[in-house]
Formats: sequence, C-alpha cells, structure tokens
Amino acid sequence: MNTPRIAFPEEFLWGAATAAYQIEGSPEADGKGPSTWDEFAHRGGTIVDGSTGDVACDHYRLWRDDAALMAGLGLQAYRFSVSWPRIQPIGTGHVNQAGLDFYDRLVDELLAFGIEPMLTLNHWDLPLVLEEAGGWPQRNTAEAFADYAAVVADRLGDRVSKWVTHNEPWVVATRGYLLGDKAPGRHDGEASVRASHHLLLSHGLAVAAIRSVATSAEVGITLNLSPVVAASSDWADVDAARRVDGDLNRWYLDPLYGNAYPEDVIGDLVRAGRLPHGLDFLRDGDLETISIPTDFLGVNYYTRQIATGPEAPDEAADVIPPDAEITDMGWEVYPQGLTDILLRVAGDYHPARVYVTENGCSYYDGLGDDGRIHDSRRVRYLHDHLKAAAAAIAVGVPLAGYFVWSLLDNFEWALGYTQRFGVVWVDYETQERILKDSALWYRDAIAAGGVPA
Ligand code: FCB
Repeated sequence: MNTPRIAFPEEFLWGAATAAYQIEGSPEADGKGPSTWDEFAHRGGTIVDGSTGDVACDHYRLWRDDAALMAGLGLQAYRFSVSWPRIQPIGTGHVNQAGLDFYDRLVDELLAFGIEPMLTLNHWDLPLVLEEAGGWPQRNTAEAFADYAAVVADRLGDRVSKWVTHNEPWVVATRGYLLGDKAPGRHDGEASVRASHHLLLSHGLAVAAIRSVATSAEVGITLNLSPVVAASSDWADVDAARRVDGDLNRWYLDPLYGNAYPEDVIGDLVRAGRLPHGLDFLRDGDLETISIPTDFLGVNYYTRQIATGPEAPDEAADVIPPDAEITDMGWEVYPQGLTDILLRVAGDYHPARVYVTENGCSYYDGLGDDGRIHDSRRVRYLHDHLKAAAAAIAVGVPLAGYFVWSLLDNFEWALGYTQRFGVVWVDYETQERILKDSALWYRDAIAAGGVPA
C-alpha cells in the first residue's frame, strides 16, 4: 500500500483492553467468591436492561478462542483484569489456586502468540465480603489489596511484565460511593473521599508488593482523565472548570506525583460537607506511599469536559456543544482532547512513560445485508484518536502504546448490553464473534505500524 501513513515509533505497542466482570461470566466457577458487581447487578433496578454479567462474553470458557482472535488481529499487547474474588473469594486469607490457574493459562496462551499481557489488578469487582466490612472507605481494604497484589505477582510475575494497580479510581470513589450508579451503589459523600484516599494508598502499597516479588515488572496506575474547559468566560463557568478538573484530574494526579492533595479541592469538599472529620484518614507517611515512583501512567480517554457553573456552588454540569458529533453514550467525539490531556499530563507531572490504556466508542452498528459490520464511525474515531496520539508523540510525550476499548462488545456496567464498544461484535445468543470493519482496519494499522495520514 502506498497511502501516506502517520508512522508510530518502532517499539510502540498496539493493544486492546477488556475487564473481567465485563467479559468473563461464570461468576461461581472454580471457587470464585461474589464481587460487588455480582451483588449490584443482581440487586435489581440497577442495570438499565435488567441484565447481569453472569454470562457476558463467556470468556471464562472461551478464552482460548479469544486469544486466537487477538492473534489474528496481530495484537501486540492485551490488557485484561483479574477478578480479585476468583483469587481470594473473601478478599483476604485463603488463596484459590483454581482462580490463579485461569489467568496463568491465559497468560501462557498470550505469550505463545507473542502478545504481551498487561494485567490490571482492580477493574472494580471488589470481593463482596470486603465491601460488607466497609469497602474502600476502610483502610483495611488497602492493606488487603496489597496482599492480593503480592499473591498475583507471585504467580504471574515471571511472565507478566506490565502491571496496572487500579483502573479509574475516580469511578469507584465517585460513581460507586457518591453517585451510586455503579457498584457498590452507595450515596455517601464522606465515604467517597475516604475511598479515593484508600484506593490511592493501596496503589502505593501494591506497587511495592508487586516489585518485591517481580523485580523487573513495570508498574503503573490507570486514571480516567479529560481536559476540562469552561463553557464561557463567566466566572461561574471558569470556577466550574476548576472544580471539575480538580475532582477528576488533580485529586489523583497531584498525590501520585508527589504534590499532596490540592488545597482548592479540599476547600470544595469542605464546602460540600464531605469532610466532616477533616482529613483524619490521612496518616503520616501516606503521601510518600502514594507517590512511590511508577514506570508508567495509564490514561483512559473518551471525551473532553465542558464545564458550566450552576447555582449550587459545589456542583458543575457538563455541556455538549449543539453541533458536536456524539456516540451512543452521548459523549462528544473530540480527538484533540487526547492530544491536550497527554500534553498536560506530560508537562505537569512528567510520567516516565504513558500508555493510552483505553480509548474507543460505543456505536450499535450491526450486521449489514452483506454479512459484515460497517462501523465506519468507529473506524473514523480510532483513526482520529490515533492521529491525536501521534501528535502528542511528535512533541515529546513519552507515549509508548495504545489499547483500544474494547476488544469485544461486552457488559457496559449499569448500561448492560445496550452499548457496544467492541471492534469485535458479540452475538450474545450464540457467543459468535464477528470482526467489525474497525477490527480489520485496526489489524491493518498494526501491520503497517501506523494509520493513514
Ligand atoms: C471506562 C471503563 C471501561 C468501560 C469504558 C467504556 O470508564 O474503564 O470498563 O466501561 O469506560
């Protein structure tokens, strides 16, 4: 092919991502304990289509086929998550070898295909027993997480080179404990702040625990980050943008990179009545633990945020421009935001390396009369975002890889099966996988080491 290409560095890793609860199914197989997501989905009234992850993509049984599918696409890396309650059914103590065996086999299969595994330890499915004992708002949960990290590293650290401690701690703390639209479905402003601290603390503890058994492991954390702009130059909007940026980005990045918690956000939390006991959860040494140097930062990027300041001083709303192109999630398609957030992170925090650990879009496009799936909007989305990633590399951001979300259509949390993010279609009746045009396009981009200019 002679089309001009935007080339990526030789060592750039081309991957795809999934998460345990969204694809595995088999919630009780081989000694697995219940997770917060098992409970939340079964609670009723929590998932828009009344579904659960009980079967999902049946990946717990079809993993071998799925690995072959990845190999067919030429994937160089695969980011998956480990379900903590498969490994420790009650979150502490007893280690379930059968659970470890599952991931052990998966890792070997990936390596046999030359696919590098990137393992996420927490993609939200906390052992239910730990939630019943207080969950992330409790400090004990952070200590338990470090033990779990060591158990997994002990088994897989000889073969897995890339480790992500948490996926999107903001979502767990804010959606899980404050807004309650994700597991564990609580509505407690103070618990939410405590959860965020213990997630960060457990990250630092886990980095050390992983390195103590897997000495050459590369370890990092994945955050959901967005550039935030004010809807107008009105003071209320400018301040809303500051608040959203503080809550979403700086509350996590600042302590991870050694700057403690941002004072202005503490002020916002006090005003919102979310710190009735101040920062009493913050103990001596915690900030040092949290800011342990890491090997990379994982960035999940989907869209930007345009903030507007409503009447309530501690809330802010998100604006979608009237002419914006939006995905089935209602999210604005804004590729430039990926360049912007990568530049911001590199400029303000200097991570050693960055991976885009998730980027993708939900469009329901299904089988056409020709038996193919022409998801041209997804092809364009991926193209434009990879181009935006290349622009960041060109100006010096140490971006080392990109993982499309997602390999497969899957269980999209509270939105159940109503959203399809996969480059591969999943027929939930038959579990057939069908490559969408975007999968074929991505395969070609990987083979060429770049995207068409
Ligand atoms: C991210 C999650 C991922 C998926 C995408 C659409 O926030 O990490 O599991 O749900 O959004």
